[in-house]
Amino acid sequence: MAQKIIIDTDPGQDDAVAILLALASPEIEVLGVVAVAGNVPLALTEVNARKIVELAGRTDVPVFAGCDRPLARDLVTAEHVHGKTGLDGIDLPAPGLPLQAQHGVEFIIEALRREAAGSVTLVPIGPLTNIAEAFRRAPDIIGRVQRIVLMGGAYFEVGNITPAAEFNIYVDPEAAAEVFASGVPIVMMPLDVTHKALTSRDWVEGMRALPGRCGPAVASWTDFFERYDREKYGSSGAPLHDPCTIAWLIRPDLFHGREINVEVETEGKFTTGMTVADWWRVSGRAPNALFIRDLDRDGMFALLTERLATLP
Ligand code: RIB
Ligand code: CA
Repeated sequence: MAQKIIIDTDPGQDDAVAILLALASPEIEVLGVVAVAGNVPLALTEVNARKIVELAGRTDVPVFAGCDRPLARDLVTAEHVHGKTGLDGIDLPAPGLPLQAQHGVEFIIEALRREAAGSVTLVPIGPLTNIAEAFRRAPDIIGRVQRIVLMGGAYFEVGNITPAAEFNIYVDPEAAAEVFASGVPIVMMPLDVTHKALTSRDWVEGMRALPGRCGPAVASWTDFFERYDREKYGSSGAPLHDPCTIAWLIRPDLFHGREINVEVETEGKFTTGMTVADWWRVSGRAPNALFIRDLDRDGMFALLTERLATLP
């Protein structure tokens, strides 16, 4: 039985690889893709989401637009990382796949009420605005969510958008705080693990050499995306943040972490958006997330190659 998921996303080159991995994997049934404002404004993330789904030849998967701004703050974007379109690296044609008329938050609510309780996993790989808004509008769905597997946060690795905060959490810390307090089981992919999921030149060239259009697109995206981390961290290779969520769903054995308490700072002068991860369990606060800190990097990239090679 395939794992039913809803991907909530702000594409973003790494989001694109995560979506392609999900669409290429028989273990996963993507009920829908919901765009959120994040890396770039919603008007772009929803188009990018449709381009990616269409690139994979999966026009059976509905794409929705969700919230266009955080719950309580102005939107902060990351064109400096992802380019002005949010999907720089390759020019894809305007999507023929139509955007669903239903608001993405309403789709999340409807899907969770329709599907069997405990059968749907939410996979947010951008700011958590849509998830928090769905829980606010329909508290009855919270107990129906199987789990949340999210990319966001950081602790030992510290922040990327501020010294203390990772981008997805920083953009909407109120939403993140509400999601981490929701009681839904959470698997968290922070920068601590995603910064270890670095592409290699050989892997990127292997993508470029794949037959079809998806492999070369992934190579072009990662080439673009890599320049930011190379300049900032001196790292060679692009960190594939968001694909860690989908890879965990397929091969959780590739990842290692610890059930701990994670709180989100929403009022810090310098630390707003920080995920305060009680790795050493000193707070006495109840665990609310599986904080993933390590992965089998080669195993993950072998999985990516195997699955992306099956796409058109
Ligand atoms: O901090 C990394 C996260 O921010 C990733 O999800 C990336 O796509 C951006 O949204
Ligand atoms: Ca993202």
